[in-house]
Amino acid sequence: MDHTPQAPTIDAAMQRALDLAARGPAHGPNPRVGCVLLAPDGTTLGEGWHRGAGTPHAEVAALTDAHTRGHDTRGATAVVTLEPCNHTGRTGPCTRALLDAGITHLVHAIDDPGATSGGGAATLRAHGIHVQAGTRATEALELVRHWHHALTHHRPWVTLKTAITLDGRIAAPDGTSRWITGTEARTHAHTVRARTDAIAVTTGTALADDPALTARTPAGGLAGHQPLRVVVGHRDLPAGARLNGPGGEVLHLRTHDVDEVLRVLHEREVRHLVVEGGPALGAAFLAADAVDELHAYVAPVLLGEGLGAVAPFGVTTLADAPRWHTTAVERFGADVLVVARRAPGEPARRTMTRTTTPEA
Ligand SMILES: NC(=O)c1ccc[n+]([C@@H]2O[C@H](COP(=O)([O-])OP(=O)(O)OC[C@H]3O[C@@H](n4cnc5c(N)ncnc54)[C@H](OP(=O)(O)O)[C@@H]3O)[C@@H](O)[C@H]2O)c1
Repeated sequence: MDHTPQAPTIDAAMQRALDLAARGPAHGPNPRVGCVLLAPDGTTLGEGWHRGAGTPHAEVAALTDAHTRGHDTRGATAVVTLEPCNHTGRTGPCTRALLDAGITHLVHAIDDPGATSGGGAATLRAHGIHVQAGTRATEALELVRHWHHALTHHRPWVTLKTAITLDGRIAAPDGTSRWITGTEARTHAHTVRARTDAIAVTTGTALADDPALTARTPAGGLAGHQPLRVVVGHRDLPAGARLNGPGGEVLHLRTHDVDEVLRVLHEREVRHLVVEGGPALGAAFLAADAVDELHAYVAPVLLGEGLGAVAPFGVTTLADAPRWHTTAVERFGADVLVVARRAPGEPARRTMTRTTTPEA
């Protein structure tokens, strides 16, 4: 007789594990992971989630929770949103912690694609643990989309963000561009910044707009997490630039080469990069087929002329234009945010050669 919880109990536990995982930080080098430990009768023994690089992984947090509550974890089922890690990174391997705790069954949503962190399920199977993969895999993958993408494509997930008029302009003929969108849309853009690892602009935009590139709260203060501020281009910035004020670290990359930008950021374990412009940088990323998602804040304004959202990137006839698939539309005051990806659930095609494999 198999002493494991029933399928509906497992499914509910995985949903709970996903909810716990979502409490972890969306930025940072590590994936968001949640874990629920179930007794053979389906009762919960312990729960945990990963709070970010250098802190205990979800499985260890759940084991600690169970033991703190005085529960015996021998014979338990571990329900985890990601395959337990198999290596000693910033913390020890979760496979070892689960074996030591007497866990006999593992249910995980998705495999770990990491070259050294992956393979935990096989290790557990080799120790006689019953392993089942794939429960709520789609939701689990979406939760760790940027991290998973970085480990499989050896570059960050790239979001191209624009704030445009209804006729696709990002600045008027005289260069004025503040503000095309309203307060609510700009506040939302700041919440995205506060969840991301890095934002990039050209030297052209840095010189024209003197942006601070910080993540701000609706009250105007600095958000708890500040993304790395990346400036791409050869020209120097003035010492008094707002970019040199409080905020995230500033990284000036004196290049026009998209692959170089991606390589440097991947080596710094940036999982999600938001390209905020200007037109030359968006075009360079599009030409390199390195844009995974579009965030277009569209304001009900028409300019007739002025800078387009992106510079030419090689499209001369309509049939050659990449088609994007809208995944979300949200309204912010008078403006609308359109979120789109290349194909349902799919990233762009740009995959880098593996140089280093930064993993949790
Ligand atoms: N509404 C929006 O969403 C939004 C967003 C961003 C910017 N803007 C507006 O855009 C305007 C700035 O436009 P801009 O004409 O200065 O254009 P830009 O595209 O911001 O900057 C062009 C400069 O970027 C550098 N660069 C970096 N990577 C490059 C690459 N791969 N290819 C070519 N150049 C590269 C070059 O400068 P170096 O010579 O230094 O290398 C180039 O001269 C401002 O008015 C700003 O307000 C609007």
